[in-house]
Formats: sequence, structure tokens, C-alpha cells
Amino acid sequence: MASVQTYLDSYNRDGYVVVPDVFDPERAASACREMESLFYGMSFEEYLAKSDREGEYAPLETAYGHQFPCGKDPLDGLIENDYLLDLMEAILGTDQIRFLFGGLFLRSGPTDTVPGGFGIEHSWQGYHTDHHTACYLPHTQDSHFNAYLIAGAFLHDIEDDNVPMQIIPGSHKQIPGLIPRLIEEGIFSHWCSINDIRKIPEFAAPVPAKGKAGSVLLRSSYGVHAAIPFRNKRNRRATWGFTVCSAESSAWMTRHIGERGLDTEFTHTFWANTTPRVRSLFGWPMPGHPYYTRETLGLLAAWYPGIDLSPYEEHLAA
Ligand SMILES: [Fe+2]
Repeated sequence: MASVQTYLDSYNRDGYVVVPDVFDPERAASACREMESLFYGMSFEEYLAKSDREGEYAPLETAYGHQFPCGKDPLDGLIENDYLLDLMEAILGTDQIRFLFGGLFLRSGPTDTVPGGFGIEHSWQGYHTDHHTACYLPHTQDSHFNAYLIAGAFLHDIEDDNVPMQIIPGSHKQIPGLIPRLIEEGIFSHWCSINDIRKIPEFAAPVPAKGKAGSVLLRSSYGVHAAIPFRNKRNRRATWGFTVCSAESSAWMTRHIGERGLDTEFTHTFWANTTPRVRSLFGWPMPGHPYYTRETLGLLAAWYPGIDLSPYEEHLAA
């Protein structure tokens, strides 16, 4: 596993980096099996074989996606990876990072309608930044100040047949300066879509974000990218996503957790079972914080049955 600095340099230059070996292949494979069973009710291979027998592809059991947490440990537990958390903190330049949204993202070749379903027919269409997904303030020149970080773990190898995301290297630095002209010329909408990248000669050529199972694509919310259609529809792309920002910028970001907000058994179970470091991504104060008193710890024990509160108790013993 290479040093965090190696990847930080690439990220700062290109606005994204694919980091290999964040998860071992078996860990990625078990997460992939879990994800396939949520979407297909079986493995993808079984789904293809069943579809061949029946002469049609059944709709997915979940057409869109599952937000974080999804309630399945092999998937939700991927965030308990210190190397990934170190990378996220280094990129955002702070150890105070906050969850924005996350979940499972599947493009399933047999029934996939992206990008054609969005009226996109040509390879120069469909480019956009994802910044509006969680932030209601526009891009700033200082991307470190306002951009957030989108992580996507590859649950299987992502090659040309798995519709790798097309990313324009360096566009995260260019886009803030370009936006005024693009708006004036009608090329850029408020939802961060660029209707024709041929009109932006400043951009480098798009690069496909490919990698082995267990790699993680880390990309800036300022980075310009697009989806491409499946050439071979008997493929899929399954990724697990987790998006974070600096605690400071979280004040003007929106957060989406769980299918139905905080009031879910998934959220309660996840918080009961995860680590203090991961809880801090959701704004929980770290152990030692004055919030944790005998009274609040008693309430937390009742709120989240089974939670290990010992790290939060240490400062009370003194
Ligand atoms: Fe996007």
C-alpha cells in the first residue's frame, strides 16, 4: 500500500485518483455478493442465466439504489477502514470530516438507461460536476475550501466493458474560472451540466476511471465527468459510495442519511456497532468531549442497545 502522499499529489493535480488495494479482493467480493443480492435477489451471473431462460431481463428488485447505511455489514462496514479514512482526511486537509451521503450505486447493463435515458446521444454531451448534489453554494476558486470528496469503492474489476466514469483531469481547478463564461454562453446550467465540452478547448481529454476490485476512486465534487453507455450490455458496474466534506464546509452542505432519515433500525444498528472514529463522521463528538457524562452515556446505552461506550467513559474515570 503506497503512502497517502503519493495519491494526494495525483488528486491535487487531476481532481481524482484511483487508489488500488484499499480493500482486499475477498472483502470486495463479499460486498459485491451482498450488493447483488439486494439488487437482483441473486448473483449477477444467476440473474443473466435466469434471464436467458425466461427470454427477458426482470426489473431489478431495487431500481435506483440503497442509501447509506443499507443495513448489510459487508457493505456498511467498508467505511471502517483506517487507510481510507486517512486518505479522506489528507485530501480534505483536516481530521474534522463529515458524512454527506453514501450508498450503493449500480449500473446494470441489461436494463441500464444511462446516459441515453437523459437524452444524451453523443460523447461530448452529459458532462457535469456533482457539486450541486450536496452543496447549495456555487464553486469557489479555492477548491479546498468548498469542494467535497466523493469516494467510490470498486466491488469488482472495472474495465472498459464496465462503463468506467469518464473524468476530465484537472477540470476541478478549471471549472470555477470557466463558469462565468459558460453561463454567459449558455453552455452551463445551474445544475452544473455542460451541454457541449467541445466548446471548452481548455479541457484535457477525458480519462476512464478504471481499476481492480478493492480500488477506490476518490474524486472532487468540482471534477467534470460523464457516464458512457454499455457497449456490451451483459456487464454491470457495482460501486459502494461514501461522500464527505470538511466539518467547516458542512455548514452549507446538505446531508442524506438512510432511506428514511435518522429514524431507521439500520441507522441505529450501524451507530451501535461502528467505531468512535466513524461515528465522528456523522458529527458525534470524539471520546473525551464534555457531552459524554454519566447521564448522557446512560441515555446512549438505552438509545443504541449494544453500543460499546467504553471509549467514551475513560475520561470520566479520572
Ligand atoms: Fe455525476
